[in-house]
Amino acid sequence: MRRAVTGLGHGTDNAFLVIAGICVILFLLIIGLTAYFVLRYRRSKGEVPEDIHGNALLETAWTILPIFIVLYMFYYGWLGYDARRKAPEGALTVKANGQMWAWSFEYDGAVMSDRLVVPVGRPVRVVLSSSDIIHSLYVPAFRIKQDAVPGLERMVWFTADKTGEYDLFCTEYCGTGHSQMLSKAVVMKEAEFTAWLAGTAAANRPSPGAEERPSGADLFKAKGCSACHTTDGRPLVGPTLKAIFGKKVRVSTAGKEREVEIDEEYLRRSELDPATDVVVGFPPIMPPQKGVLKEEELNALVEYIKGLK
Ligand code: CUA
Repeated sequence: MRRAVTGLGHGTDNAFLVIAGICVILFLLIIGLTAYFVLRYRRSKGEVPEDIHGNALLETAWTILPIFIVLYMFYYGWLGYDARRKAPEGALTVKANGQMWAWSFEYDGAVMSDRLVVPVGRPVRVVLSSSDIIHSLYVPAFRIKQDAVPGLERMVWFTADKTGEYDLFCTEYCGTGHSQMLSKAVVMKEAEFTAWLAGTAAANRPSPGAEERPSGADLFKAKGCSACHTTDGRPLVGPTLKAIFGKKVRVSTAGKEREVEIDEEYLRRSELDPATDVVVGFPPIMPPQKGVLKEEELNALVEYIKGLK
C-alpha cells in the first residue's frame, strides 16, 4: 500500500516485513520438511527407523531458537510503538472528534473541517475524542490507527512527506452508518496549508457587524448529517432530504403509523428527538441532537433543509 510518511511509517513497514518474512521462512521450512519426510520415509519404502525417544540437543534448540525469533519480532514492534508514544515538540495539534457517523477536525480551537488537512513535512499531533461511542481513526497511507473513546483523549502523530489526498476511515464498527464514516486526509505544501487555514477561519468567522450565522450546508457535512441523508433524492441509511419541506410523510409515532406534514416544527423535533416520529421504512437509529446542536446551528440546519429543492 502506498505510503505517505517517513519515520514512523518505516517502523510500521519494517515490523510488518520482519514478521511476514519470518512467517514465510517458517512456513516454507515446515511444509518443505513435511513434504520431504513424507516422501523419504513413506511406508512403501520400508525405511521407517525405530522409534526415537527424545533428543536433548534438538529439544533445547527448538525451545531456545523460537524465543530469539519472537524477541526479534517484539523488538521491531517495540521500536515502532515507542516512537509513537510522544509527539515531537512543536508539532501541529489537530483535534479530531468522531460521532455517529462523521469525523470533524478542529484547528486552533476554532477552525473546523470535515477533512484532515495537514502541511507536508511537519509533525502533526492528532488528539482524538468521541461524542458518543468508540470510533477509530485510520489513515493507511500515514500508518496510523487509533481509537476515539468517549470521555478519554487519545493521541496519534505522524509526519506526512508527500502532498496529496489519502483515504481516511473509521475502523471500529460503530453502527449502521459505519461504512460511510469516511473522509480524506489532505497533505498540502506549507504555504497552501497556511492559506487554507486562514481561508477556512475567515469562512467560519462572522463578518464584523453581521450576526453569527453558521452555514447550514457546512453544518450538514460537519455534523455528520450527510453520512445518512442525501440532498439529491437517493435514500441512504435515512430518508433523503430533497424537497421534503411541505411534503406529507408516513411516520411511526409511539408504535402507531400516522401521516404528518413536514413543517418547521417537525424538522426541529426530528433533529432534537428523532425517535418521536420515525419515517416508515427506516430504522430508528438517528442519534438525538438535543444538547449537541446549539440553537443557532439548529436554526441554520432547519433553514438549509427547508431550502433543499
Ligand atoms: Cu465510527 Cu465506525
